Amino acid sequence: RDLTGKVAFVTGGASGIGLGIVEALVDRGVSVMIADLRQDHLDEAAARFEGTTTVATVAVDVIDRDGMAAAAQRTLEVFGRCDIVVNNAGVGANPSVDEVTYADWDWVLSVNLGGTVNGIMSFLPTLLAQGEGHIVNTASMAGILPTANNYIYAASKYAVRGLSESLRLTLAPRGIGVSVVFPGLTQSRMLQSEQNRQAQFRSEVPTSRPEGGPVAPPPNSGMHPRELGEIVVRGILDNQANILTHSEFRGELEEHFASVIASFPPPQEIDPGRLMLEEARRA
Ligand code: NAI
Repeated sequence: RDLTGKVAFVTGGASGIGLGIVEALVDRGVSVMIADLRQDHLDEAAARFEGTTTVATVAVDVIDRDGMAAAAQRTLEVFGRCDIVVNNAGVGANPSVDEVTYADWDWVLSVNLGGTVNGIMSFLPTLLAQGEGHIVNTASMAGILPTANNYIYAASKYAVRGLSESLRLTLAPRGIGVSVVFPGLTQSRMLQSEQNRQAQFRSEVPTSRPEGGPVAPPPNSGMHPRELGEIVVRGILDNQANILTHSEFRGELEEHFASVIASFPPPQEIDPGRLMLEEARRA
């Protein structure tokens, strides 16, 4: 249960939750490659770690597959290996159903889901060759609990949850852990994520649209990212499947899962073929 000397790659690592995770990792003696779209965020983050030789930065858009492959290569050149891959970069848009565009869907799904896929694909050969390592994907409470007016973001985060859960079962025999993080409200620049919308996803966006969606919380409300980073690092050390960070959601989550279970039909006769399938699935 020691991370000293390990190497991590963290996307969206120059701000908010990603930066909190980076700080918690650095504190445990982990060398970190901070990957982020925004050079200004990277410069600001780099300034925090000035004089630290175990932190490096790389500017990359997580939707750019060649760019991600190059960032992975750079990580190996700088630090010699990579043990922990944190796919955290994310954006949010919650347009009303009256003015939603395909560009909204494409942007959020490309970054939140596609970026996670690209992070996994870029590092999987390295992790498999090492026969050890850990992948952490940042989902959201909105990826496990239904919320209104959040359908695109929810689609991306439920997908991140699904891929993480299956990948965990798939990679466990190969020595690689997978965790998925479900933050609630955390202090970050998330509400300004429209600034991170790439040009190819801008064309159709109505200029009338307010930034941040219908309900914007007051600035700087929510958990401090450093606290969240600490919870994530403990989750990595314990190889937790689900890293839940905001206990105020416990009751709501219990209710939600209880209502899902309550939706089963009354006891049925189940044909043997289906039961065999079930057994095979569990094996
Ligand atoms: P943030 O905006 O402070 O940080 C996100 C970082 O990702 C920024 O530095 C941004 O430049 C970078 N980024 C954006 N698009 C990118 C791209 N295409 N390629 C590379 N980097 C890119 O926001 P926050 O809140 O720290 O977000 C981190 C993750 O946490 C996201 O996946 C978000 O969905 C998730 N999350 C945030 C919550 C919150 O309350 N802040 C709650 C639940 C989940």
